[in-house]
Parts: sequence; C-alpha cells; structure tokens
Amino acid sequence: MKWEKAVAVFGETMEVTISSGSNINGTLVLPLFEGEEALPTADEGIPNSLKSQINRVLGDGDFKAKTNATMTLVGTDGGKAMLIGLGKEADADVHTYREAGATVVASLKKVHGDELTVLFHASDIASMSSFAEGMMLRDYSYDLYKKKDDEDEKNDLSARINCNEGDATELSAAIDRAASIVSGVHLSRDLGNCPPNDMYPMAFAEKAELWAKDYANVKVEVIDYETAKRHGMGGLVAVGMGSSRKPCMVIFTLNGDLKGSHPMLVGKGITFDTGGISLKPGANMDEMKYDMGGSATVFGTMQALASCGYDKKVVAITCMAENMPAANAQRPGDVITTLSGKTIEVLNTDAEGRLVLADGLWKAGTDYDPEYIIDFATLTGACVVALGHEATGLWSNDDDFRTRIHDAGNDVGELAWPMPLLPAFEKEMTNSKIADTRNLGAGRWGGANTAAAFLKQFVPNRGEGDDAEQITWAHMDIAGTYWGAKTNKMVGHGATGIHVRTMVRLITGE
Ligand code: BES
Ligand code: ZN
Ligand code: ZN
Repeated sequence: MKWEKAVAVFGETMEVTISSGSNINGTLVLPLFEGEEALPTADEGIPNSLKSQINRVLGDGDFKAKTNATMTLVGTDGGKAMLIGLGKEADADVHTYREAGATVVASLKKVHGDELTVLFHASDIASMSSFAEGMMLRDYSYDLYKKKDDEDEKNDLSARINCNEGDATELSAAIDRAASIVSGVHLSRDLGNCPPNDMYPMAFAEKAELWAKDYANVKVEVIDYETAKRHGMGGLVAVGMGSSRKPCMVIFTLNGDLKGSHPMLVGKGITFDTGGISLKPGANMDEMKYDMGGSATVFGTMQALASCGYDKKVVAITCMAENMPAANAQRPGDVITTLSGKTIEVLNTDAEGRLVLADGLWKAGTDYDPEYIIDFATLTGACVVALGHEATGLWSNDDDFRTRIHDAGNDVGELAWPMPLLPAFEKEMTNSKIADTRNLGAGRWGGANTAAAFLKQFVPNRGEGDDAEQITWAHMDIAGTYWGAKTNKMVGHGATGIHVRTMVRLITGE
C-alpha cells in the first residue's frame, strides 16, 4: 500500500448543511426531550402520516426520550424517522447534544439511507452545532486496508439541519468551524490507526511535508537521523537507533512569520514500542502501534488550527522513533547524553518515551519562545492503572495553567485529571549513581508521577541567574485515552484522536 493512501485525504468529514426551509430529505432525525407527548404543530414539513405515527409513539409513551435512546420509524408513506432522546430538558447541555449526534450516526443502519434531515425544537445555536459536531466526529471508519467490492461502496453520509432563518448564518459558521476541528481529530485517528509497517518515523515526516503543501501559512521541517546525531539529540537517537527505520524530529510551524511568544506542543511519536531490549510481553503488543498517539495529537491539532484559519503563531515538535530490540539497540545500563547536556542512565529501554521527549522538550524551550509547552504522550501503563480509560493524566509546574487545561478539556468533553508533581518524585528520578537522571523509578509505585517528574528535568528555564524561572509546562499522559476508551461515544473503535478539541479550545479560546 502506498503511504499516501494509508491516511485519508485531509479534511474529509461528512457534509452538514443548513436550511431554513421545512423540506425533509432522506430520514428525518428528531431530537426529543423527556415528557414530549406530541410534536409541536409548527413541524409543518413532516408529512401527516409520519407525523401521526410519531405522535402515537410519543402519546403511548413508547419512546421516553431517555438520553441517547433511539427509535426508528418506518413503513409510512411519509418517509422514515429516527427519534433520538436528549433526556430531561433542564439537564441537556452541549455534551448531551454532542453525544446525541454521535449516537444517531452510530445507530444508522442500511434502512436509514445516507441522507438525514435534523429537526430541532427550540434548541440554541451552540446545542445544534454541538449535535452536528457529534455526528461528524462519529462518522469515521478506518477501512483503507479492506478490499472493497463495488456493492460495498457506500455513498458518503450527509445531513441537513432545518433551522430558523435568523439562526442560519451563525449556525452555518459554527458548523464550518466544527468541521475543521473534526478534520484534525480524524487526521489524528488516521495516523494512530495506521498499521506500524506503514507508519514509521520518516513516513510520518513525509505525511507532514505533504500536509504542509495544503496551507500557505504552515511550514514543516524534518530533522533526520544524521542531523539529530550531529545536534546531540542523544535521547531520540538512543531509542531509534536499533530500528532499520531511523528516528527523526518533525517541527510544524503555523504562522511562523509572526513575532512574540506562542503555544508550543510536543508529542511522543513511538511508531512501534516493542520495549526494546527490555522486551514487552507478547500479549496485545500490537496495541503499541498507538504509541505515536502524542505525535498524532499534535499533528491533528495543527491541522484543526490551520483549517479553522487560526491566525496566530503555534509551533509543534514530534519526536519520532521505533523502539526495537536489535544488535545495535541501546541496552539497559547505557548512559546517554541528551540535547540538554544532561545524562540519563537507561535502566529500562521500555521507558523510551521520556527519552525522546527529553530532547523534544529541551529543543522546544531553547530554540523557540514558548508562552507555554504542553507535551502529549502515551507514556505509562501506570497512568492507565490510575485513571483507567476515562481521563488523561495532567501534570503541570503551574497550578493555574493546569486548571486552564482541565477546564478546556471539560468544555469539550475530554477529561484531563490533575495529578501531582511532587519533589519526592523528582528526587527519585535524579538519584542515579552514575548519571544526572535515571529513566526508571526506584520501584513501580507512582509510575506515572515519576515519569512526569523525569520530564520536568528537561523543561528549560526562561531567563538566567536569579531571574530564571522554568517555562510554563504541562504533561498529558494519554496512555489510557488515546485508544481503548469504550465509553467515548465519539469513537467506535481504534484511535480516539483525543485532545485535538481540547487544544483548539485552549489555544483559540473558542
Ligand atoms: N508505551 C508504553 C506505555 C504504555 C503501556 C501505554 C501500556 C499504554 C499502555 C511506555 O513506553 C512504557 O512501556 N512504559 C513503561 C515504563 C516503565 C518501564 C517504567 C510502563 O508503563 O510499563
Ligand atoms: Zn515503552
Ligand atoms: Zn512507549
């Protein structure tokens, strides 16, 4: 398979349009609150036979509109309908609407066809666009590697939202923006789902270069293996050198001509993590193709921002490597020198994410002028033990900043939970007998926290001497949330694309 084909075309999302008419095309989708016993008379566009069928179902209490309940009605000459529950009106917020939109798409069967018309009753613009966002997010499948027979070829799903004339312009703009953001989420998912034989460091880099051609205001720079060695990126080189597919760093710049400080994102991009010489057990090792989820989050965020037309500067760095056991792989016991000049005693080659991030964080803080740095990494199994698949672990050296990220996550329904950066964990990670730091804690307890404390050693200061202060930094461990989150309604299976939306919210404030 050619690499270009292994990731869908950038920006491909289902089409959602707006109409201020009352025509119904395809299947009618009807979001309803609990307690509605009949349709409002204003629903003039609904053919009488379908309307009376709906009213009978509602009047008889056969559809109670509990949150995310659906019912399909067919068999009238007035067409087909899907009822979708929004629960109690007083409790319904943007999350309710987003999940309802996603549930509709997840519940579609052949009988519903590929054209939908959504009819809301007295919902505001934010709610309607959130519903549309949920539909677009959930309309995703990764089937590039499946042979397709002609009869399997489905038409793309499309939806139209009927709304008041007065709302049309604003709703249409909100949906366009949502579609841009969703394109970033889907890009992240495509990158994450791509099998590791086609997703390797330089393949990711080539994809980024290809992407950059779509926008006049983005630039992608690739630091290849030889350059990384020359520059002293000892962490990236040590992790990647045992693979025949060599490591690289990819730097994405949006609106690079602008001066002044800017958000800076850093992503762990281990395209496959075997553990290296500290080899992982075999069970579920295939899931380690998702170990580049941090880099996919960062790339997806850049796509979302660029596609939205965001006009301020943002820079992102992804640290790409394949962690393989090999004759030329690093060993447990090796001491490596990172870009910062600090040394690391590598006690376990499976704790590799922190090694590549050590170089990425240092470069981010020294070669750029970050307002803040956020790193994303499928960093530790311990984080999955702590938070399951329900929330990302969130650490920061600035309490207010951590709260801002937590809030941004809550706003978009992507939970990131505050975790502690304690001095004791830093001490644990800096007490190597022979190097400045060690990549393994003293025991297995608090493994997600010791990993965060390790990363903190590689976040540079701003300023010098007495004025020196560490750059505002946050670390997000997405080991439990980048894939396998069964309660995430925006996702059927595979990579989730989490935190692209959180980042757009944080960075743009919208
Ligand atoms: N990529 C893994 C972390 C991981 C494990 C993510 C399971 C998702 C599910 C990471 O590189 C790793 O192997 N970490 C080790 C660190 C340990 C050796 C200190 C871990 O979590 O076991
Ligand atoms: Zn590992
Ligand atoms: Zn890893």
